[in-house]
Amino acid sequence: MDSSRYLENLKAIECRDSTPWFEPALVYGSAVGSKVYSVEGASYIDLCAGFGTLPLGHNHPAFKKTLQSVLDQNLVTQALGDLYPSKSKVDFMETLIAFLPSKFTTAALSLSGAQAIEFAMKTAMYSTSRDEFVVFDSGYHGLDLGSLSLTRGDFFRKPFESWLNSSKVKVFPYGVMSHELSQCLKSKTVAAVVCEPIQGRGGMREGSADWLRELYHETKQSGSLLIFDEVFTGVGRAGETVLAAKDECDILCVGKAIGGGMPLSACVSSREIMSAWPESDGEARHTGTFFGHGLSTAVGEATLKTVIQENLIHRSANLGSEIKDYLKVHLGQKSSVKEIRGRGLMLAIEGTEPFYGVKLMNQLRKVGVIAIPCGSQGRSLALTPALNIPKVELYEALDKIISLA
Ligand SMILES: Cc1ncc(COP(=O)(O)O)c(C=O)c1O
Repeated sequence: MDSSRYLENLKAIECRDSTPWFEPALVYGSAVGSKVYSVEGASYIDLCAGFGTLPLGHNHPAFKKTLQSVLDQNLVTQALGDLYPSKSKVDFMETLIAFLPSKFTTAALSLSGAQAIEFAMKTAMYSTSRDEFVVFDSGYHGLDLGSLSLTRGDFFRKPFESWLNSSKVKVFPYGVMSHELSQCLKSKTVAAVVCEPIQGRGGMREGSADWLRELYHETKQSGSLLIFDEVFTGVGRAGETVLAAKDECDILCVGKAIGGGMPLSACVSSREIMSAWPESDGEARHTGTFFGHGLSTAVGEATLKTVIQENLIHRSANLGSEIKDYLKVHLGQKSSVKEIRGRGLMLAIEGTEPFYGVKLMNQLRKVGVIAIPCGSQGRSLALTPALNIPKVELYEALDKIISLA
């Protein structure tokens, strides 16, 4: 059965909002490393890596070995997360804490980026006994109703506005320490400032180190917390373990890459802040059936260990800056291109026209490259390949982008 047929079948049974129809149709069949094959066997170079969830690419040997050991040893895929944990959950959490900067000592797991944000919001409310949040324009923090209160953009918010707690959320320009923001924090009603140190879906926009430092300082002065949403930037994507290794924050949310393709996320902080939560006496106040899922944590542990063993964070930083330069040299003079942005393997090519990124995505699919748009009005093309993408494949894809851009 070909991709079009699969999509027709899907269209017949899936909610209209879920999957768009693109020409030519593409349904993933198999994938290895940074190569994806459609159900009819057409090959694509993957510059998206599962929305940034696959630091090791598809079906890495470490991933396969983990699945095999789960089968061979009858390891538990689903324990009772908040009651009787699996061994793999404990092993993963120890690996995660060792992987992160030392101030992050205490974690809570969930399944998605949005859920990590929900956990961070509740942690900040417990810890400060306040209930307001500060966020920034173009921020993306997920689409569950709590996290959607923080996410910007009418497209996502408008239909559900009446359920979003807008009076408790103050929005400020990204990257600017304005007098108004400073005054807002001084009101001492803000539980936390929620910030992506690099806005991913917002178009790979970087907050400067000075701004992030000031933000941390101002939150400390006012008794608020600073939450870094590193769901996208974490695990080497932006060339650091997490950006919180360099820029200070109180609470860190990670997701996407920590599961190596499995649904896994974490809200992490110091023991002191996390101790605002009461001790569980058998009933957790924030939990989910699949939190701490055995199979996901087993894959997550193997992923983090492999990222370190293969020195992929360093590779992301170096290769990212190398290809950013390459793109600047070849695209810098093009009238259709406004800017090449980003850090590590988290880059964007912004066009001068709306929907430039969408147009490029569609052209690239026809020549065997998968990349998706980001930023407002789909103006940018996002490049977030696996951290171990072979250089030959990466440059082959970049040259196709350059010829179409
Ligand atoms: C910075 C950031 N936060 C949160 C989320 C939401 O993650 P999820 O889609 O896993 O809920 C995303 C998703 O792209 C993200 O980029």
